Amino acid sequence: MREVRLSPSGAFDNAALEHRHIKVEPLASAMGAEVIGLRLPDLSDEAFAEFRAALCHHKMLFLRGQDLSHAEHHAFAARFGPFAEDAYTQGVSSEYREVQPIIKEADHRSKAMFGSGWHTDSPFLASPPSITILRAVEIPPYGGDTVWANTALAFRMLSPAMQDMLRPLKVRMSASNNAYTQEKVAGKPLAFASDDSRIAAFEGTAHPLVRVHPETGEEALYVDEVYAVGIDGMTEEESRPLLEFLTRHITQHGFTCRLRWEPGMMAMWDNRGSLHLAANDYDGYRREMYRTTMA
Ligand code: SIN
Repeated sequence: MREVRLSPSGAFDNAALEHRHIKVEPLASAMGAEVIGLRLPDLSDEAFAEFRAALCHHKMLFLRGQDLSHAEHHAFAARFGPFAEDAYTQGVSSEYREVQPIIKEADHRSKAMFGSGWHTDSPFLASPPSITILRAVEIPPYGGDTVWANTALAFRMLSPAMQDMLRPLKVRMSASNNAYTQEKVAGKPLAFASDDSRIAAFEGTAHPLVRVHPETGEEALYVDEVYAVGIDGMTEEESRPLLEFLTRHITQHGFTCRLRWEPGMMAMWDNRGSLHLAANDYDGYRREMYRTTMA
């Protein structure tokens, strides 16, 4: 496959926007940035507005040394608007139902792990989450990184002919393949929040394959390897190679950034402009994370 090379002075620039209230340092040429020198619970409204714009621009932001409680995580997330539906868990407690544990124990050895394929969060829902916020509590000494890919940049780097062909298409997103793979490897059913959530997640939803970001107007590909199961109006033989090509195209290293987690870190990403995967490479160590997703 033709490799697309990027550089800060090339067709795309991940440089920080002009900010007055926050300090932002880009992570990679393609996407991602660190926000420096602030604690999330202390963000003023002006700083939060800049933070939100930076998240849409860089697609992924992270901050070190936050050490938030469930209450602080929940309160910060709520500033982005209503919480999204979560099909997989019922949350850490009745008070913080929207704070979802993502924990892999040291003795849990599995080839399939929650989030370990390239995906966008819960696209089988009729209204998939816009933003995901992830908090690190316990991290393996090495491994357990998260990697993101910029789907808006990937769309921009396709030929105009391919872009025009993709724009009218609808992709069917379903949890069925993911559940089948996870269940085969684990030998037990994948946990869903309820039986109704499981049935609806398997049925899935057809979404525009090229989506327009409601805040920036950017077009981005909405395809992944975990949940995309077909394209409306196409046969399996037609849609499968196209979906595989698009996932390979999006996830080439030139469109990605990678985060090595530290305890106390927070990272958040815009599902409307990125895919991500959690590296499943730390058997023997515990990883404890908490996630919220926004409508
Ligand atoms: C997720 O896919 O939402 C979780 C990613 C991670 O655990 O790094």
